[in-house]
Amino acid sequence: MRTITATRYVTPFREGGSMPALVEADDDGLYVLKFRGAGQGPRALVAELLAGELARALGLPVPEVVFCGLDPRVGAAEPDPEIQELLQASAGLNVALDFLPGALAFTDPETVDPALAADVVWLDSLVMNVDRTPRNPNLLRWHGSTWLIDHGAAFYRHHRDDSDPEAIAAQPFGLIADHVLLPRAGSLADADARLAPLVDDALLERLEGLIPAEWADPEPYVRFLRARVAGSERFVQEAEHARV
Ligand SMILES: Nc1ncnc2c1ncn2[C@@H]1O[C@H](COP(=O)(O)OP(=O)(O)OP(=O)(O)O)[C@@H](O)[C@H]1O
Ligand SMILES: [Mg+2]
Repeated sequence: MRTITATRYVTPFREGGSMPALVEADDDGLYVLKFRGAGQGPRALVAELLAGELARALGLPVPEVVFCGLDPRVGAAEPDPEIQELLQASAGLNVALDFLPGALAFTDPETVDPALAADVVWLDSLVMNVDRTPRNPNLLRWHGSTWLIDHGAAFYRHHRDDSDPEAIAAQPFGLIADHVLLPRAGSLADADARLAPLVDDALLERLEGLIPAEWADPEPYVRFLRARVAGSERFVQEAEHARV
């Protein structure tokens, strides 16, 4: 994964609960910066990294995820004290996503291919992502296709206590019933057959190596994923039953 450095604070995305920002970086690109010092804490960045890179490994469209160095002085001209607080609390390493310029809000599940919809439901069941609902789909339309963003709420049960990841993996995930693409999804069993074999030891080891030790111990996340994918028929059945 690449590491860039923010060179200019452009503007906040105020609709986002964590107030991410559009920033310019030293490679002249524009990125959506997710602040390590936001209320959700560094584990939201761990989730962003792990779920984003998992999605990419499964062939799903996600913007490039990078590490982003931040010197709070790049936002010195921002008058909002809330933004100053975020900047100060996030000095050093953060996560950023490639900005998709001109992307539109996602409004119509009918525009998504049913197999892709099933793959997205499968991914979100795997990582227990609660943030892909009709009210807050965290999908964008860009260049005629659907892109996945905002995986900060995945692995949410690890935020409180990650001491028994196999137990978390065995818990039901009823919130899948609210998934924006569940009514549109094709066969989830087919998605399982396509995707489960891709979540192998090599991928899990690569993901484990991505997490900065200061943010979280990556081991419980990997143990969770290993157990979850081993029992994937269970969450596939659960999602099938949640269909109306
Ligand atoms: N890569 C991107 N390209 C273009 N726009 C983006 C991108 N990432 C995020 N956005 C825009 O910024 C908004 C906030 O980003 P995001 O959903 O990641 O933040 P959040 O604080 O985690 O939001 P939430 O309120 O869903 O928790 C998105 O709804 C979208 O409009
Ligand atoms: Mg969001």
